[in-house]
Amino acid sequence: MHVGITGAEGRIGGYLRAGLADSHQIKSFTLTSQEFDSTVVDISDADAMNGLFSGLDAVIHLAGDPSPAGSWESMLKNNIIGTFNVLEESRRAGVKKVVFASTNHTQHGETMGASPEILDVSNPIMLRLGDYFNPSSIYGASKATGEVYGKLFARHHGVKFVAMRIGAIGDEDTPMRAAGKSSEDYVRAMWLSRRDLVTAFQKALDTDRDFTLAYVISNNGRRIFDLRETNENLGFYPQDDAETFFGN
Ligand SMILES: NC(=O)c1ccc[n+]([C@@H]2O[C@H](COP(=O)([O-])OP(=O)(O)OC[C@H]3O[C@@H](n4cnc5c(N)ncnc54)[C@H](O)[C@@H]3O)[C@@H](O)[C@H]2O)c1
Repeated sequence: MHVGITGAEGRIGGYLRAGLADSHQIKSFTLTSQEFDSTVVDISDADAMNGLFSGLDAVIHLAGDPSPAGSWESMLKNNIIGTFNVLEESRRAGVKKVVFASTNHTQHGETMGASPEILDVSNPIMLRLGDYFNPSSIYGASKATGEVYGKLFARHHGVKFVAMRIGAIGDEDTPMRAAGKSSEDYVRAMWLSRRDLVTAFQKALDTDRDFTLAYVISNNGRRIFDLRETNENLGFYPQDDAETFFGN
């Protein structure tokens, strides 16, 4: 499959370029020029996007501002307008599927502590994919907006859409960076290992469904997301568990 990746120079972009390269022909899109082969584009520039996705079967859309503390101006430009432009160019180019890097922050407002990456564990809860949006931040709301546009493009324009509500994945393949910090409970619930990330995105490329919501977290003992619908709809059964690192 010919697969475009926006935000290919980012953290997740690097893991997916490496993890999917054996099974797909990857075309990278980046904001600035890189040491690896890439097409430079700012996705918030609609004119610059025109024609870039020709010949692609699918687009993994990662580009955006990933900060739960990010500003409205940045969310509007990079996450809302940028995602709309990615969908519009996918429609124009006849791309069959967009796999979208959404976030846990679209939904976990109910359990948010003092900030989006602090979990209120006094409020035990198990959220399901169909529960209404409850964003923990302007960032979470911007990603919810992307999911809604994805639904529109799937229904009106036949661009299949998979919304990946990604948990927490960092520079190291371990949840221990959060040990003893205020974010520990959040990371223990939301951690995503690299191999589970790659498996989830491979499953998203494989699915024939028109519109799919999915939780992309590891099989964490302390998760607050119910994985059963994701297991069934995407065939994604994560293998790792943050609790094996913490050991209690
Ligand atoms: N890392 C996580 O734990 C996590 C969790 C949930 C969701 N996500 C989402 O996954 C995606 C990738 O996250 P990441 O951790 O790799 O972040 P990252 O910041 O490392 O990568 C994002 C990339 O997008 C590019 N980008 C930003 N604005 C752009 C624009 N206007 N045009 C073109 N490129 C632009 C940046 O240059 C950057 O390289 C983001 O959309 C983020 O919101 C990440």
